Amino acid sequence: MAKVNTSFVCQECGYESPKFLGKCPECGEWNSLREFKVQTSKLKNEAPSYKSQTNITPKTLSQITLEKSDRILSGFSEMDSVMGGGIVLGSVTLLAGDPGIGKSTLLLQTALNISTKGKRVLYISGEESQQQIKLRAERLAKTTKNDNLFLVSLVDTDAICTLIANEQPDFAIIDSVQTMESENLTGLSGSVGQVRYAAAEFIKLAKNLNIPVILVGHVTKEGMVAGPMILSHMVDTVLFLEGEKNTGTRLLRSLKNRFGPVDEVGVFEMAEGGMKELKNPQELFLTKGNNSPGSVMVANMEGTRSFLVEVQALAVYSKLPMPRRVSSGIDYKRVELLLAVLQKHAKLPVDSMDIFVNVAGGIKITDPACDLGICMAVLSSIKNINLSKYVGIAEVGLLGELRQPSFLDKRVAQAKKLGITKIITSKNYKSIEEVVKLFGK
Ligand code: TYD
Ligand code: MG
Repeated sequence: MAKVNTSFVCQECGYESPKFLGKCPECGEWNSLREFKVQTSKLKNEAPSYKSQTNITPKTLSQITLEKSDRILSGFSEMDSVMGGGIVLGSVTLLAGDPGIGKSTLLLQTALNISTKGKRVLYISGEESQQQIKLRAERLAKTTKNDNLFLVSLVDTDAICTLIANEQPDFAIIDSVQTMESENLTGLSGSVGQVRYAAAEFIKLAKNLNIPVILVGHVTKEGMVAGPMILSHMVDTVLFLEGEKNTGTRLLRSLKNRFGPVDEVGVFEMAEGGMKELKNPQELFLTKGNNSPGSVMVANMEGTRSFLVEVQALAVYSKLPMPRRVSSGIDYKRVELLLAVLQKHAKLPVDSMDIFVNVAGGIKITDPACDLGICMAVLSSIKNINLSKYVGIAEVGLLGELRQPSFLDKRVAQAKKLGITKIITSKNYKSIEEVVKLFGK
């Protein structure tokens, strides 16, 4: 007979305790434990009979054969490369991102792409009705006449599993794992128990039937995948779709991938007709024909790819006792530090100036190799000289020294590929002082 046990699970980290606690000992969160009823079947308590499982025979590495066609192409080469060459059969991928960033759009487009190639795709939405999905599909595709794409609006985890097992599609999408609910558990959709149960069921199903599944996951304010952290550990691949809401640029990153590298980045643009992949994203990050002072290019690395990005600075004399520093797209503290270095080692009068720094194209740069470019943009604005054809590639140290960043050759090669010859790096200059002297008037 099945026995019902009670267990208290932390909604933040998934910690389990047999009794109620006010504070979670694992993550330190207050009042985050919720009660769950867990059914333990009587079978579990019996001594396991090892004999009954002898039909499994281990294989040596040479006995295991690899099949060539074990990946499905998504129709987006950017997405395929982020996933390591396509979607692996039987794999479970979690696509996470802020609300409204374009997860459903990207996946519906993927579903349309795959289904037009003759594969049967099941798109399960717990958030939108079939009509809503159809409306979106009409926006995305020229024709919605498609016999291979099946839509369901459903939130019941167990019903979805039965449906997938009956339909046996070639590919399934579940949007989103936080809306899934099962009657086998207490707790509302989105709670740790429900999310974990749903993910575990879908993973079991995907592995057994060899159907690739993509789960959509929401992100909390802190930028973590909502629900238990273990969700990321359970799935094979974790992708993040990120970008600024007010610009169209979207970056698809892999944070974990059992079937490929994790430092790949795919660049997309959210446009009228859905997500468009940008195979050559330079046009977005560089403004053409800009000849005003204050603009310099930097070679930013995203994963293993290098992008040239335009950094703009505006420096004006300030009447304020504490001049203003405003930065967008670059960490504010990094800008302050670089300004202090410019003041001390390059003798630029930044302490009496309001300084605004901005990155074009709505991308965020955190790469220290962009330091020199940021300094040069400020210099360009202060001295009123046009440096818009220059690229600055070096990390700037507190002593004003220029340090070689990682992948210098790759960054220089990318700049040269775009026909830029004025490249300032730590190889030709040793300190920020030398660079300022070069442009000094
Ligand atoms: P959506 O895919 O619903 O986001 P998510 O599933 O991540 O929450 O994207 C919604 C936004 O995308 C919405 O603000 C409108 C915009 N959008 C476009 O700009 N172009 C389009 O073709 C579509 C379908 C949506
Ligand atoms: Mg959505």
